[in-house]
Amino acid sequence: MNIYTRLKKDHDKQRELCENIKSTYSGSQNRADLWEELKIELEAHAAAEEQVFYSALMQKPDGTKEARHSVHEHQEMTKIIKELDAMDQSTDIWEKKFEKLAHEVMHHVDEEEADIFPVARKVIDSERAKEMVEDFNTRKPAEAEKQSA
Ligand SMILES: [Fe+2]
Ligand SMILES: [Fe+2]
Repeated sequence: MNIYTRLKKDHDKQRELCENIKSTYSGSQNRADLWEELKIELEAHAAAEEQVFYSALMQKPDGTKEARHSVHEHQEMTKIIKELDAMDQSTDIWEKKFEKLAHEVMHHVDEEEADIFPVARKVIDSERAKEMVEDFNTRKPAEAEKQSA
């Protein structure tokens, strides 16, 4: 496994959670539980991804622009997550805003896989890309713990 397949695994989980939340009933416990799971997943993934993957890509002259772009999108998503978290989940406004977040998440993970990973594969050594998996697997649960604290 390399960092690309590891990140893709999380992306697939995020795609699935977004779809599942869309089909929950407003105000249901199921929605609350899935939202809690997605929120922690998104924030822990983004933080570990920045620490392990984007920090390496940022250092490469041909990767800096892509890394900055993605980190900016992470910040935009965090903003919406915080807003959603402070709102009543049983309202139409929550559902509308959630759709916006889901749209951003889909766009972001598609873009990472289609545009960013190919650039990274050119500039990051393939051995390094394998080593990154262990670093990512260490950082992510630590970040998840911070989120749920
Ligand atoms: Fe990302
Ligand atoms: Fe990602």
